[in-house]
Amino acid sequence: MFKEKIMKEEILKIKEETVGLIDNAIDLKSLEDIRVKVLGKKGDLTLVLRNMGKLSKEERPVMGQLANEVRSEIEEILSNKFEQLKQEQKKIKLKEEELDVTANRGVREISHKHPLNETIIQLENLFQTMGFDIVDGPEIDTVENTFDLLNSPKYHPSRSLSDTFYLDDKTVLRPHTSSVQIRTMKAQKPPIRMVSAGRTFRFDDVDDTHSPMFHQIEGLVVDKGVTMANLMDTINIFIKNLFGEEIETRFRPHYFPFTEPSMEVDVTCFDCKGKGCPSCNDTGWSMELLGCGMVHPNVLRNCGIDPEVYTGFAFGMGVDRITMVKHKIDNIRLLYDNDKRFLEQF
Ligand code: PHE
Repeated sequence: MFKEKIMKEEILKIKEETVGLIDNAIDLKSLEDIRVKVLGKKGDLTLVLRNMGKLSKEERPVMGQLANEVRSEIEEILSNKFEQLKQEQKKIKLKEEELDVTANRGVREISHKHPLNETIIQLENLFQTMGFDIVDGPEIDTVENTFDLLNSPKYHPSRSLSDTFYLDDKTVLRPHTSSVQIRTMKAQKPPIRMVSAGRTFRFDDVDDTHSPMFHQIEGLVVDKGVTMANLMDTINIFIKNLFGEEIETRFRPHYFPFTEPSMEVDVTCFDCKGKGCPSCNDTGWSMELLGCGMVHPNVLRNCGIDPEVYTGFAFGMGVDRITMVKHKIDNIRLLYDNDKRFLEQF
């Protein structure tokens, strides 16, 4: 009886200790050590069972049953813990092998419009609100579209090799956007209301105000009953919109082969607002902002439009010049240097 009691206590003690050990086990190796220590050939529980011989016949089955129950209980707890540790190790391994394939690109700089494009877009938007279409034209055009059909006399100096870039006898890098007038009138019957902006090229040496590549924006209106009052009003509207209500315009007679009468437009000097100062040579005017006039009847006729029925006006201006006046830029090279320190100011 006494032996049975001791043995029973011992078995329960082994169980209690083992459960505690299993609970605290941190890896599969220590779990295996516990298994060997308790259930192995020389394990604690095995040794206790070996002493069963010392018990009486009646006591043996009772103790045997208890020992077996404890054994299978421990086995079950061991196997549960084994599974749990295996899962945890798997997770740790995955975490270690995790690879971050996203590259850190830092903060991206967002650019803004070049001042030349800003002027073009501002003018295009304004003319669109006045019902003008935006038309595109090629930078390489024919001598016919650039000069002949624009009523340019054969002797006109702008045709010379020292003024215009020729690709061959019949093709040029357009020296003005007026060739788009011809393209539009050949393709479309009146009423016509269009503006067209783009690059233009002339055989100029680079200085503070000249560049062999520059930009123009062209305008053309052809309809029944179009007059010079319409032309002057349109120009006054966009000049005031671009530069401010206080800016005045002055129309001076001029000559262009493709308009008759022709005019050049000056605007009030921005520095002195018309009083006279060094930057306007004391005239009070900023000179030659654009050229304009009533479309020459020959030009209409050349494009198959009857000048007895239709009249029109046209204008053309340097986008570079307007941008320089607007932002008080004194050197055209700055517009083409692509120096961020300069461009970021606008
Ligand atoms: N094409 C002219 C120039 O380049 C400008 C102009 C356009 C004048 C349309 C009158 C009408 O100087």
